[in-house]
Amino acid sequence: MSSESVLAFAPASVGNVGIGFDILGHTVKAVGDRVRARRTAEKGIRIASITGSAAALPLEPEKNTAGMALVSMASALSLPFGIEIEIEKGIPLGSGLGGSAASAVAAVVAGNALLDAPLSKLELLKFAMHGEAVASGSVHVDNIAPSLFGGLVLTVGIDHPRTKQIPVPPSIRCVLAHPHMFLSTREARRVLRKTVDLSDFVWQTANLAGFLSACYTNDLAMLRDAFEDVIIEPQRATLIPGFKAVKQAAMGNGALGCSISGAGPTVFAWAEEPYAEGVRVAMVEAFAEHDLATDSWVSAIDTEGARILEQ
Ligand code: HSE
Repeated sequence: MSSESVLAFAPASVGNVGIGFDILGHTVKAVGDRVRARRTAEKGIRIASITGSAAALPLEPEKNTAGMALVSMASALSLPFGIEIEIEKGIPLGSGLGGSAASAVAAVVAGNALLDAPLSKLELLKFAMHGEAVASGSVHVDNIAPSLFGGLVLTVGIDHPRTKQIPVPPSIRCVLAHPHMFLSTREARRVLRKTVDLSDFVWQTANLAGFLSACYTNDLAMLRDAFEDVIIEPQRATLIPGFKAVKQAAMGNGALGCSISGAGPTVFAWAEEPYAEGVRVAMVEAFAEHDLATDSWVSAIDTEGARILEQ
């Protein structure tokens, strides 16, 4: 029996995780978006309200990530009813914490619970991808997949995506420093060159393979050596004031790796639990020296993804 009204939560995420541009991401326990969905007799998708940290987003469903994800779902399934949603943003806009993905994911998870025959999470992935494309201008899954499934998630394929939850060494914490500035994902993608040097391709491929194998084998020395994005980070670093100093501060205080979260401006680091708080403080101080106030978190990388909170 389906519900008439449900509330879903989807966590924030770190896209790319440095070395896996557009294909690797992990959840952040600290923050997320919520979407309440109700069945309506009138067909179509309606956004009743947007509240929270990014309330100035469009209410037209086709221009909103959550709305577009549900438009895509309703059209594919020829739903005989409509859906009205209320979006509660917990993730700051343009932060690099996967806010557009989380809203799209929370919307499809809530919408799914209204169906007479709910779909699997893998089937929901594509609808959420259509929503995410509204915000960034391209289809990529590195925030959608972890927000939906939870944990560190690798996605292979776009038309027929396959996802794999990668084990994270249990001592690892993710440290996040979100400077109070807006960085558009479209702009951060626009600056990227369309071609890659062969030597950089080899280096990056080795790092991605090394990173993933280190996760499976709990090999922190390999993880540290492989945790270096040689292609994307150097092209985006100048978009974030103080990035180089923040990274140096993290690495100098025991981080295993540090890079840009998604398209930025949030900077993330992985550190073993005893070092994580020191890394957080050092990153915040480095941003402050560049006149940027920050929100910061130390987050476990748990495997809990989007879920229904009330039904
Ligand atoms: N992989 C994406 C990027 C994440 O880095 O542009 C932002 O949506």
